[in-house]
Order: sequence, then structure tokens, then C-alpha cells
Amino acid sequence: MSKIIVANWKMNGSFEFIEEFFQSFESTTNHTLIFCPPFPYISAIKSHGFSLGAQDCSPHTHGAYTGDISAKMIKDIGADYVIVGHSERRHYHGESSQLIKDKATVALDAGLTPIICVGESHQVRQSGSHIQFVIDQLQASLPDHRQNILVAYEPVWAIGTGLTASPDDIGEMHAALRNILPTTPLLYGGSVNQENASVILALDNVEGVLVGGASLKPQELNQIVKS
Ligand code: PGA
Repeated sequence: MSKIIVANWKMNGSFEFIEEFFQSFESTTNHTLIFCPPFPYISAIKSHGFSLGAQDCSPHTHGAYTGDISAKMIKDIGADYVIVGHSERRHYHGESSQLIKDKATVALDAGLTPIICVGESHQVRQSGSHIQFVIDQLQASLPDHRQNILVAYEPVWAIGTGLTASPDDIGEMHAALRNILPTTPLLYGGSVNQENASVILALDNVEGVLVGGASLKPQELNQIVKS
């Protein structure tokens, strides 16, 4: 079954890196592979024929917002997706779920598919309220029109830490999300690598993965794509 694999390069890469990366990355796959490099490199990856996404967009359509990039501009350079609400943006930039909702809404208006990220901290998980927390965060982050969106469950404690949520944890959360979004593709993210990808991708209600660190290693991404 075809899955969605999002490569989130975060703030990594260079023209030199991209050239080397695609020398060793095998490009044939039946899955939907979406590369999300930093803004300046989106065009550089275009010639490789994969789907493209940005890692963020402005909640505004245009105007005096120095440093911001609009969803329409992202569409203009040939991308079809945009990640919104990644925990690193929620945390380092203080982004609220209302702001994520606004970004997802302008993304849809511009013809992009927003990849809306949600996830609980370690503290919330330990308190046992993780399901309700993530559901509340999701409800507050969802645009009014919910066709053509992707949702990624990314427990904050699993991102970049080498800790992965167990298949049971992922199954439990994705079943809860599925109740709210019966037809939306649901992705899992958080230390996905070549060892755990096939187990995660085989779980019920998991239509794809969002890969950070491992997506910067061409051979490892190859293995994940082959999972
Ligand atoms: P990671 O990042 O795979 O490095 O944990 C995932 C993400 O931040 O989306």
C-alpha cells in the first residue's frame, strides 16, 4: 500500500549537500515522498522529480511582514505542501494552535496541503492526559475545511531524541485521531529510522511517517522508503 514519507530537513543542507545527497539517493518509489528542505533549497530539489514542501508559512497572504514567506509564494516555487505547527516552531517561536489554524487556512487557500503537527511533551505523557491533550491541540489547530490536509502525530519527547513511541502508544493515539478525522492521512514522526520504519508503517491508522534526522542520510532514507 502506498504511504506518505515526509523528509523534514529542518535547518540543514547546502547546495553542495544536495548534490551529494542525490548522487546516492535512489529515486524510484511507489510511495509519496515529500522533501521539505529550508526555503532557499526548494527549487534546487525540484529537478529530482519528488514532491516538495516548505517547513512553515506566514498566516498572512501578503503585506508588511518582514522575513515572512506566504503560502502563495511557496506554491509559486513549485511546492505542494507546507508543515505547520511543528513542535520546534510551537516551542522556539511560541506558536499557538490558533496561529497554526490560521497558517493551515491560508495554505489551503493557496492550494497547498498543510501537514499539521501535534504532539505532547514528556510531562504531559507522564501525567496520563496525552490523548486529551493531543485531541485538544488538534481541534484548535484544524482549519474549518478539512479536505486536503495531512496530520502528523509527533510526540515532543520522541523528536530528535532517539526515543520512539512504542507501536502500542502510536496505535492508541492514531485510533483517537482517527475518530476525529475518519479520512485524513495520519503520519507518525519522532526518531523514525531504517530500523523502526517498517513496523510503524504497518500499524493501523498510520498512512505515513515524518522523518527528521534520518532523512538527511540518503542511504537511510532509501531504506525507509523501501520499508
Ligand atoms: P526526528 O525529527 O526524526 O529527527 O526525530 C522528526 C521531526 O521533527 O519531524
